[in-house]
Amino acid sequence: MAKIQLGVFFGSRSCEREVSIISAVQLMNHVNPEKYDVIPVYIAPDGRWYTGDALRSTAFFTDFKEEKVQEVHLDLTAGSGALTAFRPGKGLFGKPELVIVARLEVCVLVMHGLHGEDGTLQGLLELANLPYTSTGVAGSAVGMDKIMMKQLFRGCGFPTLPGRWFTRDSFRKNEEAAVREIEELGYPVYVKPANLGSSIGVSRADDREGLLDSLELAFEYDRRVLIEKGLDRPIELNCSVLGFDSETEASPVEMPISHEETLTFAEKYLSGGGTKAGGMASLSRVLPAPIPEDLRDRIQSLSKDIFRALDCKGVVRIDYMWDRATEELWITEINTIPGSLAFYLWEAAGVKYSALIDRMVEYAKKAHKEKNDRNYAYTSDILKGVKVGAKGAKGAKGAKGSKF
Ligand SMILES: Nc1ncnc2c1ncn2[C@@H]1O[C@H](COP(=O)(O)OP(=O)(O)O)[C@@H](O)[C@H]1O
Ligand SMILES: [Mg+2]
Repeated sequence: MAKIQLGVFFGSRSCEREVSIISAVQLMNHVNPEKYDVIPVYIAPDGRWYTGDALRSTAFFTDFKEEKVQEVHLDLTAGSGALTAFRPGKGLFGKPELVIVARLEVCVLVMHGLHGEDGTLQGLLELANLPYTSTGVAGSAVGMDKIMMKQLFRGCGFPTLPGRWFTRDSFRKNEEAAVREIEELGYPVYVKPANLGSSIGVSRADDREGLLDSLELAFEYDRRVLIEKGLDRPIELNCSVLGFDSETEASPVEMPISHEETLTFAEKYLSGGGTKAGGMASLSRVLPAPIPEDLRDRIQSLSKDIFRALDCKGVVRIDYMWDRATEELWITEINTIPGSLAFYLWEAAGVKYSALIDRMVEYAKKAHKEKNDRNYAYTSDILKGVKVGAKGAKGAKGAKGSKF
C-alpha cells in the first residue's frame, strides 16, 4: 500500500512556537515509517513556510540556517495539497520555475496558541479541502478564546468559576468602575489574556495593587482580558479525550504537581532538565491521579461532554481545578492541541504514540470524507434568471434596468 503523505505543521507566529517545535519533533519521531512519509511544514516567526528533513531535530532551531531548508507555499486549490517552491531559473536570465515539492494527503497540526490552534489554520485547510487532525474551525476558535469558552461552558451548564472580562478600551474608559466590578469576586483573582496559553501573561492578584499590575501585564498580551475568581492552591487534574463525533474515549486523569501557585511556563516545559526530556512529558505529575473513583468518573464523563460541545476531533486535553476547601470541581480550560499531544496520558492507557497518531489520522480522514460526501454543491437555477453586471462591462448587456 502506498504510504500516506503526512504533513506535520508546527511553529507559527505564536508565543508558544518553541513548545510547538518540541511537540512536533517528538511526534515526528513516533510516526510509523511503514505507513507514512513525514513532510515537516514549519511556519517561522516571520510567517514563511519551510519544509526539509533538517526540521526534524530541535537542535536545528537554535541555529536556523535557511539554506538547509526549502521555502514552500501551500496551494489552496481545493484538494490539491501541493507544497510548491520556486526553483531558480537556469543561467543569468532564466525565469524561476514553480515546482511541486510534495503533495500532502493528511495534515497533522502540532501548533499551540494563536495562528494554529485557534481555528485560523483549520480554516485555511477547510478552504484547501485537506484532512487535518485537530478540532474544526468553530471549536478551535472557541477553545482558544478563554472568554468565549467560559460563556459557552456556562451555557452548557458545565462548572466554571465566576469571572468578569474587559477589553483594553472598556477598562481604560472607566478603570474605577471596572476594578469595583472585579472586586465583587473577592480576592484572590486570576487575570488572563483571552487568547494565550502556557500561562503566558496569567497572574494571581491578592489585592488592588496586585490587580492593577496583573491587568497591566495581561493587557500587554491581549486586547481582551478575563478575570476569574481564584482558588487557593487548587489540585489540578487533567484528562485527555480522543475521538470524533459520537466515538469518544477519555484517558486516565493526571495530577500535575506545581511548586508555585500558577503552573508557570518554566515549570510546564523546562522542568526535568529542559527540552531534552521532552516538553509536557517532563512535567512532574502523578498518573493516574490519586483521587476517588467517582471523581475520576465524573471528570472523564464531563470531558467527553465538553469534547462533544465543541465538536472536537482527534486528541484534546481538558484541565480542571479541585477546590480543597469546598470540594468542588471547576473547569480551567480546554486545549484543543495539547502539549506533546497528551501522548503520555494515552501511553498510560496502553495506547502507543504511533497508534495515537494512527487514530488521529483516521478521524481526520473520516471528518473530511463526511464533509465531502454531504451535498454542499446544492444547485439552483437562480443565476439563469438574473442579469447583473458592471455598467459597460463586456458581456454585461442588459445590466441597465435588470430585474430579479
Ligand atoms: N481561578 C484560578 N484559581 C487558581 N489557579 C488558577 C486559576 N486559573 C488559573 N490558575 C492557575 O494558572 C494556570 C494557567 O491558567 P490557564 O487558564 O490554564 O491558562 P493557560 O492557557 O495559560 O494554561 C493553571 O494551570 C493554574 O495553575
Ligand atoms: Mg492551562
